[in-house]
Amino acid sequence: MESGVPWWRDAVIYQVYVRSFADSDGDGIGDLPGITARLDHLADLGVDALWLTPFYTSPQHDHGYDVADPCDVDPLFGDLADFDALVTRAHGLGLRVVVDLVPNHTSSEHAWFRAALAAGPGSPERDRYHFVAADEPPNAWGSMFGGPAWTRVDDGEWYLHIFDTTQPDLNWRNSEVAAMYEGVLRFWLDRGVDGFRIDVAHGLFKAPGLPNRVDGGPDPAFDQPEVHEVYRAWRRILDSYPGDRMAVAEAWVETPEAMARYLRPDELHQAFNFHWLSAEWSAPAFRSVIATTLADLAQVGAAPTWVLGNHDVVRAPTRYGGGAVGAARARAAALTMLALPGSTYVYQGEELGLAEVDVAPEHWQDPFAVRTGVVGRDGCRVPIPWSGTTAPYGFGPGAGQPWIPQPDDWASVSVAAQTGVEGSTLELYRDALRVRRRVVRGLEDQVELLDAGEDVLAFRRGALQVMLNAGDAPIDLPPGEVLIASAPLVGGGLPADAAAWIRLP
Ligand code: GLC
Ligand code: MG
Repeated sequence: MESGVPWWRDAVIYQVYVRSFADSDGDGIGDLPGITARLDHLADLGVDALWLTPFYTSPQHDHGYDVADPCDVDPLFGDLADFDALVTRAHGLGLRVVVDLVPNHTSSEHAWFRAALAAGPGSPERDRYHFVAADEPPNAWGSMFGGPAWTRVDDGEWYLHIFDTTQPDLNWRNSEVAAMYEGVLRFWLDRGVDGFRIDVAHGLFKAPGLPNRVDGGPDPAFDQPEVHEVYRAWRRILDSYPGDRMAVAEAWVETPEAMARYLRPDELHQAFNFHWLSAEWSAPAFRSVIATTLADLAQVGAAPTWVLGNHDVVRAPTRYGGGAVGAARARAAALTMLALPGSTYVYQGEELGLAEVDVAPEHWQDPFAVRTGVVGRDGCRVPIPWSGTTAPYGFGPGAGQPWIPQPDDWASVSVAAQTGVEGSTLELYRDALRVRRRVVRGLEDQVELLDAGEDVLAFRRGALQVMLNAGDAPIDLPPGEVLIASAPLVGGGLPADAAAWIRLP
């Protein structure tokens, strides 16, 4: 703790999508030693922590979110010694390490699910999951990855899977499930992790009786009140360890108010605030996200988070219209979020300004895309370009394409190509994180939204004023020192699709 403020409260946390960050052994898939060898990039960038997506033993049907053994490393990614080496190196560089926890479901190759299949109907082994005897699917729930959420096994029972068929949902009303996950938490806490990202944190409990959704009503598969008891128990475990161990929820709930319930003082520390990510490019939309987020979190005393992207959504430059305009808007949005109180999550490649890649259907790997035939999440998961002019762009040793092919025009966006180049997105992020540490961190949390016209988002934190121009003509900036801008000023004005931080006199 510095000055009594826990590290995560205003941290910049970098999401490493393990399969696509850096490959050490040339198999075209990222791995733990690859990450360790590239940690300098994160230290140079100036982030405070990294979050690793699942690297646990897994058949990889959902690229690691189908966990067969949550307390071991999949050989694809290395072993426990490689994990320990990563943590040691990260801590040596002053970086905290957050790992992913997947409590809503296991892989169908988890020992528990195999035992459930073997033990048969009515067994205690089956009670750890949702098995139901019926002639038809027990309800009309659909899988998030397309098709029904139920699959039938040979003896006629159906099991529930909100995601892929290989991701059976656990029955959290069975006390063995809670005990298992408490053990998993302790296992990684004992190995020195600083926190957890909780996958599908609003899942876990389903409405009793697994009823169908009433039109316009809440989704009975999510956000049940019982889930909060789980997080109270986990908070007690986190608090029993030295240092500021934290947890951040992935909870795609409807409103900031629903999100706040996960952040009561005896529950989780943070939740991803997906409301900015879901907002269109417009000053009123951003204003409203900021106002409602801050108001709702203030009620529970929680610090906000800001998220522009992750491994599940279309990359921001593409969401914001693509091309030069989309790229400029993504830079402006990132700069704006980095000035808000609380912490910011940066998804790998955002600092390079990567756009969504148009992955050819024959290379689709996302189970959603494979099950539905609709373009999925592969386009934001393409391996990172580090250097060079052809694939794999320094992602790993050897020649040739990694597990998702990289575009052939990525030479100019690699880390090496952008390093030291004035105006590059990478240098913008480095500058922004430097100024954030120097100036923004010390500011009061209070945000004053200003009226600067319909197309301008303007707010003040103490002596810092932030302007985002979502209109189509340059705007005047207030008198003061421009600390950083996402695009060159035009005659002293802030161009369209740009943002700036100004230190007021
Ligand atoms: C979360 C993950 C996503 C995964 C799903 C199922 O939403 O972010 O990648 O497919 O959970 O575990
Ligand atoms: Mg590898």
